[in-house]
Amino acid sequence: ARIAVLISGGGSNLQAILDAAANGSLSHGEVVLVVSSRDSAYGLERARLAGIPTAVIRSRDFASTADFDNALSKVIDDHQADLIVLAGYMSILSEGFVKRYPQRIVNIHPSLIPAFSGEGFYGLRVHEAALSAGVKVSGATVHYVNEVCDGGEILEQQTVRVFPDDSPQDLQQRVLTQVEHVIYPRVIEQLAKEIVGNSHDS
Ligand code: GRF
Repeated sequence: ARIAVLISGGGSNLQAILDAAANGSLSHGEVVLVVSSRDSAYGLERARLAGIPTAVIRSRDFASTADFDNALSKVIDDHQADLIVLAGYMSILSEGFVKRYPQRIVNIHPSLIPAFSGEGFYGLRVHEAALSAGVKVSGATVHYVNEVCDGGEILEQQTVRVFPDDSPQDLQQRVLTQVEHVIYPRVIEQLAKEIVGNSHDS
């Protein structure tokens, strides 16, 4: 499968995916494009270091959602990507956009959905909410993206322990390194394998 990764920030999940491709554990997909919603995203540097084409597409540069959707679709389709991976992508994709790619867009969210998910739960806020609720486990969820924010079918979840003295940053780091970077490349390999399999059948 041909994978487009959409980012907005540091890109540590992007790096985990690139590392999996480099070490052979992601063998049915290749990252062919990285799109960022911010021109200062460090993930863009990671992509360049790996020799992957990059694009910056910012919604505020477009007059309408439809124009933005078309620009994003164009770069994805120009690179013939058939799997769209959101990795710390901070824009919410429109219903019109997600309907163009049914079961071809996945996201990772740093909680056990449905806990601490949906609009307003992003970044450190997710972990602050988990700590406020006093949960003893948290984790991350990989899910398909549909028109409902964090509402698509759940593909994978894995837990971490929450410790009494955790700061939101501590929990964020534990979820990232122990769960996100482990499960995301694995789920992507599985989906890529299915996509490649289906295209051979047809
Ligand atoms: C991750 O916690 C991810 O779950 C969330 O945004 C963060 C992105 O981190 N959607 P990075 O840019 O991959 O380092």
